[in-house]
Amino acid sequence: ASTLGAAAAQSGRYFGTAIASGKLGDSAYTTIANREFDMVTAENEMKIDATEPNRGQFNFSAGDRVYNWAVQNGKRVRGHTLAWHNQQPGWMQSMSGGSLRQAMIDHINGVMNHYKGKIYAWDVVNEAYADGNSGGRRDSNLQRTGNDWIEVAFRTARAADPAAKLCYNDYNIDNWSWAKTQGVYNMVRDFKSRGVPIDCVGLQSHFNGNSPYTSNYRTTIQSFAALGVDVQITELDIQGGSATTYANVTNDCLAVPRCTGITVWGVRDSDSWLGENTSPLLFDRNGNKKAAYTSVLNALNAA
Ligand code: G3I
Repeated sequence: ASTLGAAAAQSGRYFGTAIASGKLGDSAYTTIANREFDMVTAENEMKIDATEPNRGQFNFSAGDRVYNWAVQNGKRVRGHTLAWHNQQPGWMQSMSGGSLRQAMIDHINGVMNHYKGKIYAWDVVNEAYADGNSGGRRDSNLQRTGNDWIEVAFRTARAADPAAKLCYNDYNIDNWSWAKTQGVYNMVRDFKSRGVPIDCVGLQSHFNGNSPYTSNYRTTIQSFAALGVDVQITELDIQGGSATTYANVTNDCLAVPRCTGITVWGVRDSDSWLGENTSPLLFDRNGNKKAAYTSVLNALNAA
């Protein structure tokens, strides 16, 4: 196959990208995005601050622009994200305790109801674990509502849209030897043993000098999958743009049947949240395919 999406589909997987609504008028951007990818994540437009700018007043205009562009072009959509310490609207940032807990539940219901039956997988909870050696939760206003906030979010999400896969999504959980990875692994194992609804783990996979790709990445994917959840690579970018590392990531997903797809976090280097200088994505600023693109395509076609 000659595109990433078609090549991934040969093994029943998808290949996605983050899409920014503000770039949908850029035909160079949409031409590449439409040609190459078959899964879409809104880069910012379905987040809490975007969808509930005032409490109880939902705004889906930007989220719907991304959603409609994707579906009109035959693509599926990942939902990102419902419960997160970051990109909370001001009204939520200042909340705590039982009222914040209720606001989280109301937010999940409001957003998932709008997109009910339309989303392949939701990142229900994003980035709840701490960096470093603790293996424990990150401090946040949501965490301070009680340790059960994550399972409450997942139970709420299952009831709101039973058709969507429900994912826990995080960064720096790619390296199997890291405490953060083990913390999330233990949470997923606990959820599965107690019947808390969870269907997938999202490995964001933002690789850089401080958190490089390591050869135990495949072990991480296999270990989560062995718990009975799908694994999705949800926000892939690699600072430096190594074609070899891109191929390794792709091959590690292809080696695990329950690794269902890969999403890169932007189209061209110039679209990346990292800026284009570290060359993190698959297309250069002029829309040319980079060596990393070819290595990913070849790996997908060899599967
Ligand atoms: O839209 C406003 C614009 O009106 C304003 O003039 C401008 C001035 O700062 O800001 C614009 O908003 C920015 C927004 O991106 C849209 O471009 C925010 O400041 C900026 O903080 C925001 O950054 C996003 C970041 O999440 C925020 O946490 C990035 O685009 C987005 O790529 C990034 O994505 C996250 C994932 O959601 C979770 N995992 C990590 C990943 C990378 O940080």
